[in-house]
Amino acid sequence: MVKIINVSKSFLQTNNENLHALDNVSLEISKNSIFGIIGLSGAGKSTLLRSIICLEKVDQGQIYVDDFEITSLKGEELRSFLKNIGIVFQGYNLLYQKTVEKNIAFPLEISGWKKEDIKKRVNYLIEVTGLKGKEKAYPAQLSGGQKQRVAIARALALNPKLLLFDEITSALDPKTTKQILKLLLEIRDKFQVTMLIITHELAVVSSICDEVAVLDYGKIVEQGIAKTVLEKPQSSVTKMLLGKGGWKDEGNI
Ligand SMILES: Nc1ncnc2c1ncn2[C@@H]1O[C@H](COP(=O)(O)OP(=O)(O)O)[C@@H](O)[C@H]1O
Ligand SMILES: [Mg+2]
Repeated sequence: MVKIINVSKSFLQTNNENLHALDNVSLEISKNSIFGIIGLSGAGKSTLLRSIICLEKVDQGQIYVDDFEITSLKGEELRSFLKNIGIVFQGYNLLYQKTVEKNIAFPLEISGWKKEDIKKRVNYLIEVTGLKGKEKAYPAQLSGGQKQRVAIARALALNPKLLLFDEITSALDPKTTKQILKLLLEIRDKFQVTMLIITHELAVVSSICDEVAVLDYGKIVEQGIAKTVLEKPQSSVTKMLLGKGGWKDEGNI
């Protein structure tokens, strides 16, 4: 579903030195799986996600999504392809002057859906994401978990094949984190969607990821089945993440 091949990306720093945010990164995410990328702050996780949606132009390497080389798409072709990808960020990125239902309707409106179809789709997404009763609420009237549910519903609106999540539970308490992760599992089964989850929290990887890659200073230092990596960590950064007690909650969801 997603193939990242030898991707590198540097940023020129103010001291004129190049910072290798991504250094020869390769990974493969299979269809309908939940893939986690974990690493400390500054490891390059968001840069990788931004590269997948072409917000960053990579210096080297290729990124394929569903057999399309996304790194070579441009203009209208790229814009239309990006409709296949839903994205959720830590900061929700909601439209604060619009209600919950209007936020979820937004991508459908700009894609030219008919009013009737939008209504049906929004109602369905509200139900799936557990937002019933909040249709007319404004984001400021919602809890963090509820805001994240709106962002998830909006990301699902156009029925994407791939969902990207960047630290979506980092601002949430352990109980809300658990509920959101449970929702992601339900969504994966209902929508047959592939998920890439970027996080610095081991609890996220341990509770829902099938596979994981550990990113450290732009390099993948370890990757494999999530359970195996967490049980038998090889790299010092994985051991550190485990030992530091980054767990919000050790229980299963
Ligand atoms: N636009 C940019 N210009 C300069 N440096 C950047 C830019 N974006 C990211 N970086 C640097 O690249 C590194 C990786 O950043 P990022 O991908 O945001 O890490 P993470 O998401 O893992 O915390 C950091 O050292 C960051 O300061
Ligand atoms: Mg980040």
